[in-house]
Amino acid sequence: MSFDTLELRNALGSFATGVCVITTSDGCEPMGMTVNSFAAVSLEPALVLWSLQNNSECFPVFENAKKYVVNVLSVEQQDLSNHYASKGKHLLAAEHYRVGKSGMPILRQCVSSFECNIWARHPSGDHVVLLGEVTDMETNPNKEPLLFSSGQYCRLA
Ligand SMILES: Cc1cc2nc3c(=O)[nH]c(=O)nc-3n(C[C@H](O)[C@H](O)[C@H](O)COP(=O)(O)O)c2cc1C
Repeated sequence: MSFDTLELRNALGSFATGVCVITTSDGCEPMGMTVNSFAAVSLEPALVLWSLQNNSECFPVFENAKKYVVNVLSVEQQDLSNHYASKGKHLLAAEHYRVGKSGMPILRQCVSSFECNIWARHPSGDHVVLLGEVTDMETNPNKEPLLFSSGQYCRLA
């Protein structure tokens, strides 16, 4: 290989993304974890994915969760992104969420939310890829998405 892990990480970080918080209360207290690995996979059936690092303190919860929600953050929610990306700060604050149709916690004031049932788990190197089937969704077209690129938050021009 002509690159090391840090070079790969920095190069992959040049792929600009949105920012999400994955939430669940399946078998646990309501919890959240910030991710930017979210991607659309299929329309029929409605499938989405994200990847969970094996060494996360959230790993046991999200690896086993049968239901979870992908919450797409708005530019006003950078503080939430930082909070739920911090070790020891993954318990959801009561004022940050309401309960969705699936019984799982949905963050308030998001751009969109996708309630999911686990479809498949694929162990993949130092992450596990989690595929979910979307059972319910909400969108708020008036909200502007928070973006992340090369380790920095940004917004649409
Ligand atoms: C913008 C952003 C994107 C992230 N994306 C992911 C991701 O896709 N998968 C993942 O497992 N962790 C991701 N993380 C890290 C997690 O938020 C994680 O909670 C953090 O590293 C703290 O470690 P802990 O999970 O052991 O508490 C991301 C963090 C940030 C700030």
